[in-house]
Amino acid sequence: PETGCLSIVVLGASGDLAKKKTFPALYHLFLQGFLPSEEVHIFGYARTKISDDELRNRIRGYLITDKSASTEHLDNVTKFLELVKYVSGSYDSEEGFQLLDKEIAKHELSKNSVEGSSRRLFYLALPPSVYPSVCKMIRHNCMNKSDLGGWTRIVVEKPFGKDLESAEQLSSQIGQLFDEPQIYRIDHYLGKELVQNLLVLRFANRFFLPLWNRDNIDNVQIVFREDFGTEGRGGYFDEYGIIRDIIQNHLLQVLCLVAMEKPVSLKPEHIRDEKVKVLQSVLPIKDEEVVLGQYEAYRDDPTVPDHSNTPTFATVVLRIHNERWEGVPFILKAGKALNSRKAEIRVQFKDVPGDIFKCKKQGRNEFVIRLQPSEAMYMKLTVKQPGLEMLTVQSELDLSYRQRYQGVTIPEAYERLILDTIRGDQQHFVRRDELKAAWEIFTPLLHRIDDGEKKPLPYKPGSRGPEAADELLAKAGYVQTHGY
Ligand code: BG6
Repeated sequence: PETGCLSIVVLGASGDLAKKKTFPALYHLFLQGFLPSEEVHIFGYARTKISDDELRNRIRGYLITDKSASTEHLDNVTKFLELVKYVSGSYDSEEGFQLLDKEIAKHELSKNSVEGSSRRLFYLALPPSVYPSVCKMIRHNCMNKSDLGGWTRIVVEKPFGKDLESAEQLSSQIGQLFDEPQIYRIDHYLGKELVQNLLVLRFANRFFLPLWNRDNIDNVQIVFREDFGTEGRGGYFDEYGIIRDIIQNHLLQVLCLVAMEKPVSLKPEHIRDEKVKVLQSVLPIKDEEVVLGQYEAYRDDPTVPDHSNTPTFATVVLRIHNERWEGVPFILKAGKALNSRKAEIRVQFKDVPGDIFKCKKQGRNEFVIRLQPSEAMYMKLTVKQPGLEMLTVQSELDLSYRQRYQGVTIPEAYERLILDTIRGDQQHFVRRDELKAAWEIFTPLLHRIDDGEKKPLPYKPGSRGPEAADELLAKAGYVQTHGY
């Protein structure tokens, strides 16, 4: 691994993302020894004029949530916060970023006992509207200038635009300032343990190799459900809706990993090449294969306009036009304020031809990968019901992580992804052409929704969503298995 000073700059340090995700992830990396204090300094940057200590205290509140925290934990937090400094400035001011550069340089000089290069990581925990100006300021004022080498990288997070055109515009604005290997577009679903497991599962297991295709698989569902609404985020959410918030990025990324061909190697470019091919093979979405919903009470949120047409639920069938997947529906489903919180991939196999058991049909073979909560994989299969009669019953082979990997802590998605940015591994980040292809799939539908041509159906908070979604699922070929 590279050594040398590492300066991590969190822009938007007082915002929600920084406090809830970025700083806690940095703290966990620190605890595990990935951010050694002899090399690392963390800078918070934001407009608010506060002192170093004020920022530290705010972060402390997110790192120590438990009143009975151990002294060891308290000490660790204090040691971590010693690495944190604050610089205040606006997002388009040369002076602010010059000051930031000076602070970083000071830190680099003070750590001159460390041999090696200077590494500068800029994490934009900011709304995308300021990405272009912030990137410009970094480019003009804060780049690594060390003779000993090193790098400057930026980390950005969705929403990358609102449709194909705005996303392309944003990409080209950033692309004029930074090269693709310097840009890390986070989709935090790519940092989840079971999402990262998909390549291993598919390509390191003989079981799956011959079965993973249209001859054997009937349909695939990729599902995201949340049992809470958009309270507190109505302003943001109403502008984007569930397709831009979850489906176009998180679920589509998962689809790529489920559907892609085997990459030549694990090199990030090889993997991303295959993902792009899948996205480019998706056919235009058919109107009759979309169901939208909006939960009743969504518009009671004062930040949501009274006549909002924004979907908080959607089921969309995607069809991949290639040799492996022709005719297999990929059903992407996401919703807020539903009856449970769950994210899972459900691969349903075709019926066994020439059934000789003549028992009441119990359902098909399914392979389910539960991303959260409680990570698990299970295979639903038909077995003989124990006893004297020759009866069949559905059962499952179950790999539940909590039982199988007792005592193992599964790292948070952000922790893993930030470590990747430091190591320079782009495998789990979205490349520019992937992003473009993803927007190409959804932009026509999104425009129809924005123009009010396609309206969401109401559904009750705490329900399964609109009934029409279950009907669409059945039409796409999904057969509900009894007992699940
Ligand atoms: C975010 C969305 O990207 O993902 C949120 O903006 C959503 O609306 C969140 O709640 C879900 O993430 P996770 O990791 O809890 O599934």
